Amino acid sequence: MKNLLFALLIIGCSLSAFGKEGMWIPTLLEKYTIDEMQEMGFKLTADDIYSINQNSLKDAVVIFGKGCTGAMISDQGLLLTNHHCGFSSIQSHSSVEQDYLSDGFWAMSKEEELSNPGLTARFLEQMVDVTDSVYANCDSLQAGDLQLKLNENINRLQKNASEDGKYEAVIKPLFFGNQYFLYVYKVFPDVRLVGAPPESIGKFGGDTDNWMWPRHNADFAIFRVYADENNEPAAYSESNVPYQPRKWFPISLDGVKPNDFMMLMGYPGTTQEYLPSQAVEMLIEQSNPDRIKIRTARLNIFSKHMKADPKTRIQYASKFAKSSNSWKRWKGEIRGLNRLNAVEKKREFEAEFEAWYQQNDRLEEQYRSVLPQFDKLYMDLLPFDRAYNYYQEVVFKGIDVFGLPGYFPKNDSGWKRMSESRRDLYRQAIATKIDEFYRNYDKETDQEVFLKLLRMLRQDLDPSFLPADFKEMFDRYDDEKIIRKIYDKSVLADPEKMKEISLNFNEKWIAKLQKDPLVELYHSLRFHYVRNIELVYREVNEKIDDVQKTYMQGILAMQKDERLYPDANFTMRIAYGKVQGYEPRDGVEYDYYTTLTGIMEKVATDHPDYQIPGKLKTIYSSKDFNGFSENGEMPVAYIASIHSTGGNSGSPAINANGELVGLNFDRCWEGTMSDIMFDPDQCRNIMLDVRYMLLIIDKYAGAGYLLDEMEITGNTD
Ligand code: ARG
Repeated sequence: MKNLLFALLIIGCSLSAFGKEGMWIPTLLEKYTIDEMQEMGFKLTADDIYSINQNSLKDAVVIFGKGCTGAMISDQGLLLTNHHCGFSSIQSHSSVEQDYLSDGFWAMSKEEELSNPGLTARFLEQMVDVTDSVYANCDSLQAGDLQLKLNENINRLQKNASEDGKYEAVIKPLFFGNQYFLYVYKVFPDVRLVGAPPESIGKFGGDTDNWMWPRHNADFAIFRVYADENNEPAAYSESNVPYQPRKWFPISLDGVKPNDFMMLMGYPGTTQEYLPSQAVEMLIEQSNPDRIKIRTARLNIFSKHMKADPKTRIQYASKFAKSSNSWKRWKGEIRGLNRLNAVEKKREFEAEFEAWYQQNDRLEEQYRSVLPQFDKLYMDLLPFDRAYNYYQEVVFKGIDVFGLPGYFPKNDSGWKRMSESRRDLYRQAIATKIDEFYRNYDKETDQEVFLKLLRMLRQDLDPSFLPADFKEMFDRYDDEKIIRKIYDKSVLADPEKMKEISLNFNEKWIAKLQKDPLVELYHSLRFHYVRNIELVYREVNEKIDDVQKTYMQGILAMQKDERLYPDANFTMRIAYGKVQGYEPRDGVEYDYYTTLTGIMEKVATDHPDYQIPGKLKTIYSSKDFNGFSENGEMPVAYIASIHSTGGNSGSPAINANGELVGLNFDRCWEGTMSDIMFDPDQCRNIMLDVRYMLLIIDKYAGAGYLLDEMEITGNTD
């Protein structure tokens, strides 16, 4: 029977996709993955990817800003990342007169590049397993004392590795603290904007196409890293020169075919592949549905007002995009996990785990309590998880005006101690923030969200999670009337008044704001949240983390002969798979690539998210693709079965020869559950075909001089 099962498994594997679950540690490829990668067609060695003795691909992959990946594509510091990763930089240089978001931006020489204060590129110098050093002198310690000692060791090791600030040294736990790695980065603070396509090309399809296949946007932007004369990091200065990286990616025009080997190098942010069944069940049954319900209400109100008024459409575009991004992913997660029977699969695994530790007394002693503890702790967490999500989605992220009270002091004690010059600085800072806030604020919209979301809070949460005055308000009065009244009476909903207050801020206003009905309501909710929800929520989660650490230790011991990868934690990882389409649902088959013809098909629908500049239409109709096409067709995007997540945006997509052929920017909706459980049949990452990017730079933007810097190989048409 066992043999039969095994045979079925093998047949199953060869019939199904080549999907390759896993985000691998670059220093451990030799041990875990390189053989398989080479069997799948990869022609380089593990040392070519990561080495500290020679230049390797890892020297060409950076952390771009705070949450994205970037790739070096020339010997003069040219950096490739996504348009959506460079978005805020592009936006910061834009104004109504000079709208780089709408029109795109192209520096026609190095002098025209634009500096971006605060933006950095981090290069990984090295990474080392420091588990033993982190656990030094910890043998006899328990719980709290153990954590203190671990933190002490971590701080000391980080400090030493930073060499007096020359490097940024970070130690991160892997496998829930069963392992620790030290990461040493060189941080370059002078990163300049070189080019970005117009949004109509870079974000073509907008939120309609977000998370979806087939996809047609050129989600790229180009920056340049600058260094001092010694090629070392330096703050922005005119005398800085383009950084010469140790390694950069050659770009291949050879394109991709089905079953081609494909690899991503980058910085995936967070996954949770080792959760117990209780956690996955809570996510499917409660956490995701709660958050989706609240966001659906908010997004619907946004939509209505955005359709009715062009001004509101612009004001709320970014808020809408931000909120809908996770909203859409959560929905995909639920669908994907249910399709996989994820909870059932987890339970089966837990049964195996139980059988494993029951084989001897020592293991039994060590792991017996894990599963029952999960049972208890997730039961404890359940009501607090709901309250936590409701407060987050309603009070802290949902109602915009609730963001304002936090700008102002709650009482006058600190204010009294401030010097007059400090007070002036404070007023200026507040005035700027207030100004920014109201630029993207529409009273009608916000008020409607306010009423709708507070009602949900009242109706859906157990009364013990709500402050008495809030409940009373609903019980004693007509809620619609009272909520409107609060909103109308508050100065927070009066932009002109608020501007005046911020410029003349003084003790009198502190006193007045204390009595403002909206401020009062906010503080009452926040106070209740901090005291009665957040504390317990964190406490239970800390206990869960402890149990999870033991559980993980057990899984590692039980599966010691299998390849296990640690959850993503925004450190450099390698993931690989094959170029291939998929079947998203019954009767539908998706091809692995898209073309410019598909863009024209979408344009023809007249949908507002599908508009392109006339110049791109002309390029299409002239069929003159500067040699970037393939058999007369202009490729745009393609998909592969690679395990990726948020943070992989901007990751170079690398072919079997180690050349850059694509740029990762999204995942297909049907596979978004891969953060919790991977499905080789459904999980696909989406990449921009580098040839479409080159067409846009060269033919559309006329910035072909940038191509001269790149190392371009192969050819198509
Ligand atoms: N879904 C992608 C990611 O998770 C892209 C988001 C930006 N694009 C958009 N249309 N909102 O980050």
